[in-house]
Amino acid sequence: MRLFFALWPPAAAASALHDWATRAARQTGGRVTRAETIHLTLAFLGEVDKEKLRAVIRAGRGVGGRAHSLPIEQARWWAHNRIVWAGPNEIPAPLAALAAELKNNLAQEGFSLEARAFAAHVSLIRRAHEPQNALPEPPIVDWPVGEFVLVRSALSREGASYETIERFARSR
Ligand code: 2AM
Repeated sequence: MRLFFALWPPAAAASALHDWATRAARQTGGRVTRAETIHLTLAFLGEVDKEKLRAVIRAGRGVGGRAHSLPIEQARWWAHNRIVWAGPNEIPAPLAALAAELKNNLAQEGFSLEARAFAAHVSLIRRAHEPQNALPEPPIVDWPVGEFVLVRSALSREGASYETIERFARSR
């Protein structure tokens, strides 16, 4: 099973981001992420044997920290993967701690994630062309991070579909 840990936005935030992406895509073309699949990846595990699922969940349960919010402050286009994404200007400290702790716990359970630094981004348009003008200002959204989730991803011709396997509450 293809697994990753993520933050999932409330429906209103997802809808605002999706509407923004639909407008931005007039400039960039590409495939706009469906509102219900918008998320921020914390740790990508890739293919994991079913027998190892318990260890993955254990790694998630062991993460401490507190609830915080995720500000969406900038929207950019990345040349290396042709994604238009939105995210915070700087990674909030509790979010950096969450990603680091998760990575550490996963390593202790025997999962090695890529060494690449964590980049807090929400992918909104894929296969986007480079914008010739500034992208519109991203919407102001309310994205409280009261939990994170373990998600199973299935790829099909229609794009990715996701199933939440487990939720992990942040203490308040
Ligand atoms: P992306 O949005 O930047 O493409 C489900 O596929 C999620 O996992 C996506 O958010 C995707 O990030 C991320 N993902 C896919 N492959 C990955 C990889 N090899 N390393 C890190 N994240 C990956």
